[in-house]
Amino acid sequence: MAEPGPSVPPGRILISEDELRARVAEIGAAIARDYAQENPVLVGVLKGALVFMADLVRATPIALTMDFIALSSYAGGTRPSGVVKLAADLSMPIEDRHVVIVEDIIDTGRTVSYLKRNLETRHPRSVRLCSLLDKIERREADVDIDYLGFTIPNLFVVGYGLDHAGLYRNLPYITALDTVPLP
Ligand code: IMP
Ligand code: MG
Repeated sequence: MAEPGPSVPPGRILISEDELRARVAEIGAAIARDYAQENPVLVGVLKGALVFMADLVRATPIALTMDFIALSSYAGGTRPSGVVKLAADLSMPIEDRHVVIVEDIIDTGRTVSYLKRNLETRHPRSVRLCSLLDKIERREADVDIDYLGFTIPNLFVVGYGLDHAGLYRNLPYITALDTVPLP
């Protein structure tokens, strides 16, 4: 068996498991209230939103359906080009459905702006955005977040679904990358 993964001193955690649980419960209650009779489809953006989505749906006690979509950003030379590509599409049509996009983090806002435009072309009844984190200092595109977990400073964060080079998604809390030992 391999050694256990990195453990981080509690004082350096940015958002703890308890804080995540409490906030996710509030967001779930708000979505349940707003969509009580609507059977919304929650669209999780893979892979980062997986952990948040799994907890969120269990905190949202109404009839709802889940779907997933995967997006990737092309790197244009040494800097991100801002071009977003659909890597895996939804499994079902969303025409006439109330859609709630579930994201891990809104950074520049380019990814979710692309996604919203893409989904709108499919004639859903409505599209709202739920994001666990908002790194508002970095915003380039105009984005309205309807359900927000936490606003965070301009740090690269990992855990609770968020990764660096594919790692750390399984940490149960959110921490800034420079507090996590690199493998
Ligand atoms: P945006 O298009 O700049 O808003 O980027 C959004 C995507 O970049 C998110 O869905 C994440 O996948 C990724 N991302 C942005 N900031 C972070 C971070 O601090 N940690 C991990 N992933 C991030
Ligand atoms: Mg993402």
